[in-house]
Amino acid sequence: MKNVKCDKFHKRSKEELINFVKKLDLQALETAEERLPLYLEVGLKDARLVLDVGCGSGFVTRDIARLTKGIVIGIDGSSYLIKVAKKILKEYLNIKLCIGNGERLPFKNNSFDIVTCNLVLMWADDPQKVVNEMARVTKSKGKVLASLEPDYGGKIHWPENLKVDQVFAGDAIRRKGGDPHIGRKLRALFISAGLETKVGIGNSRIWSCEEDKHYYLHSRDFYIKALKDAGVSDKEIDEWEYEYLKSLDDGVQLNFFPQFYAIGTKPKS
Ligand SMILES: C[S@@+](CC[C@H](N)C(=O)[O-])C[C@H]1O[C@@H](n2cnc3c(N)ncnc32)[C@H](O)[C@@H]1O
Repeated sequence: MKNVKCDKFHKRSKEELINFVKKLDLQALETAEERLPLYLEVGLKDARLVLDVGCGSGFVTRDIARLTKGIVIGIDGSSYLIKVAKKILKEYLNIKLCIGNGERLPFKNNSFDIVTCNLVLMWADDPQKVVNEMARVTKSKGKVLASLEPDYGGKIHWPENLKVDQVFAGDAIRRKGGDPHIGRKLRALFISAGLETKVGIGNSRIWSCEEDKHYYLHSRDFYIKALKDAGVSDKEIDEWEYEYLKSLDDGVQLNFFPQFYAIGTKPKS
């Protein structure tokens, strides 16, 4: 099962994709408090047509659809994730889903009031092309929003484990084809796309140790696999996990890394 790739876009096995969807579900829940104010700020409530690029399994698209009376289109390169999203979102009559590449959006210029993406640019092969396309299909005076784009260079974490921290400070993301420093590049990406740009950090809250523990245990397979892929031995993983969980149980663990957002306004043409 492990080596059967069931989705050309993600080159992951079915089992890995199922775990990925579980992670996206929890992530959407945990990050709602930093995304929802951004949706209100870009005027989602009054939008008539919204595009969510890289919608994945649709948990974030669902939040967007709940906040607008308009139509929301979700697009993703993964046929598997779109199939999952269709099931999850079947009761939402204002959501339409399609397979497509964010680097070549299948929509006309100036079509949407708002175009969003959440945690997508970090994974895009060519994030500039995606932002350019998002800007192209947005109407004049419309908004482009990229949320939750992290920067692992700004990670603050204690107590430390030098070997393991190195993996989670960006190596694991890079190994999977992502850009762990996408956050710092957001402004440049938006400005290059011709957008009037505002950037910020969406998260300032430090999660409690109970929240961190819940998140870790839910996504444990991901973390363990990332460490194994990075060549950390089983013994080192066991020792790290014991210390990590202990620090959470003792209430002394601190974890923070910044999640950037950018809001672009398309100038009048
Ligand atoms: C980390 S997931 C985030 C999914 C969703 N936005 C969320 O927050 O739950 C990144 C998503 O971006 C999609 N993606 C990455 N590059 C893409 C591209 N060029 N075109 C379309 N989708 C893309 C992936 O298939 C994946 O579903």
